[in-house]
Amino acid sequence: MRRVVIAGNWKMHKTQAESLEFLQSFLPKLENTPEDREVILCAPYTDLGMMSKNLHGTRVRLSSQNVHWEESGAFTGEISPAMLTEVGVTYAVVGHSERRQYFGETDETVNLRARAAQKAGLTPILCVGESKEQRDAGKTETVISEQLKADLAGVDLSRLVIAYEPIWAIGTGDTCEAKEANRVIGLIRSQLSSGDIPIQYGGSVKSSNIDEIMAQPEIDGALVGGASLDPEGFARIVNYQS
Ligand code: G3P
Repeated sequence: MRRVVIAGNWKMHKTQAESLEFLQSFLPKLENTPEDREVILCAPYTDLGMMSKNLHGTRVRLSSQNVHWEESGAFTGEISPAMLTEVGVTYAVVGHSERRQYFGETDETVNLRARAAQKAGLTPILCVGESKEQRDAGKTETVISEQLKADLAGVDLSRLVIAYEPIWAIGTGDTCEAKEANRVIGLIRSQLSSGDIPIQYGGSVKSSNIDEIMAQPEIDGALVGGASLDPEGFARIVNYQS
């Protein structure tokens, strides 16, 4: 049985006050959420310490949106794995397409980040996915397969979540058809030597399409951007009908 993992990636949204307001509304809505669903919030660095205190004793886990591979040093603007674990973070997103696209991250740095995260006890949520141009050129499978090979070299597959996020579906409202997401995630799974890794779909997930997405046999969860910012909407996603 693979785990179901639903994560909200807030990106560069929410001050501490806004995060607290979110939690006050969101947490009571998890009362009837089935036990076997893991719920994660990927919050901005400045929110993590405060959120960790407010999530103590709840089922919600915390994730950072990135992590550096060195333990410390002259890396202005970066954050180390130990800085995250110290405040109660247990997951770290690595390789998000926005990091690859706007901040020059490569498969090499994504791999370093994933390995360093694991070494410190964090579980990486590795994002992979193709651009519109790559899809139109029929390169989806090759692109993803190359990303997986490079990003996962030396990574412990027993402590990992993968998110398939087609870039053209992120923030566009243009969700990948559930069946197509299922097909690509099946291909991702076939390339991994372990069959137990939770693989999420990400890209314009909302409360109106989560049921169909989660009904797909290969899809084990969702990495939700915009629709995770609203506590009601994200609770509806977490409480999807199976
Ligand atoms: O990491 C989540 C993400 O990139 C998807 O964003 O806004 O399309 O749900 P969104």
